[in-house]
Amino acid sequence: MKSPFEIFRDPAAMRARAEDLRRDGRKIAVVPTMGALHEGHLTLVRHARARADVVILTIFVNPTQFGPKEDLSRYPRDEEGDLAKARPAGIDLAFCPSAEAMYVPGSQTFIEVRELQQPLEGASRPGHFAGVATIVSKLFHITKPHLAVFGEKDYQQLAIIRRMVRDLDFDIEIQGVPIVREVDGLALSSRNVYLSPEQRVAALSLSRGLAAAAAAFEAGERSSAALVAAARAPIEAEPLARIDYVELRDADELTTVERVERRAVLALAVFVGATRLIDNRVLA
Ligand code: PAF
Repeated sequence: MKSPFEIFRDPAAMRARAEDLRRDGRKIAVVPTMGALHEGHLTLVRHARARADVVILTIFVNPTQFGPKEDLSRYPRDEEGDLAKARPAGIDLAFCPSAEAMYVPGSQTFIEVRELQQPLEGASRPGHFAGVATIVSKLFHITKPHLAVFGEKDYQQLAIIRRMVRDLDFDIEIQGVPIVREVDGLALSSRNVYLSPEQRVAALSLSRGLAAAAAAFEAGERSSAALVAAARAPIEAEPLARIDYVELRDADELTTVERVERRAVLALAVFVGATRLIDNRVLA
């Protein structure tokens, strides 16, 4: 008989449950999220479901990864709606703690993945990845997974988590799942709900830019400047879009590259109105 669905809010209770599951020999997968679940998150859940005995979804809007001018207070929150979507996709348990439970008074320890956190999102959002790495490591300690699943849309985040797990000897397998897109190419994001119909059309310029660069790469272009220019052109032609960055970087080290000689990632962040969207494409 399937055990009833459980929601944990207390880290100690969640940890005790995870310990029991491990003692019983169950393979645990965790899918960390900040809620506002869309089909991209459900794809992560299904990926985890196919690879573990127990799937834990975490929902926590982590304050330490938001900058002072960012959208923490208006970040969409709908726990009931999220669980209604995630349960049929295959979760067994949910961990939904409060900020007070996760950051007890006097918390002052942060994890920094020093070099990978610097460029791209890290340059635009100082402190963001220290918040991410710290909360993810805390979630790992509490949920005790064998496997953790993340989306490749947050490419730099995934690279940082992989490096943290390697450097700090976490005994956890990290799996990335490809970006899920709408049929017209828009990468799924919790922030897409902020887009007006006109802005949503403008947002298609991100995937068009990436596709243009990928086509140039397929045709033999290897110069970073030319590939970045190809990606920028459709976005610059869009009056409602404003580029934060478009960069080509080494796919593993995230260092700058002049020419693509090994796997590289084209990563971009673009404001469409007040909404900041990110997307990426690996060129290999
Ligand atoms: O990708 C996210 O939703 C968040 O950055 C994560 C990994 C859940 C950490 O808060």
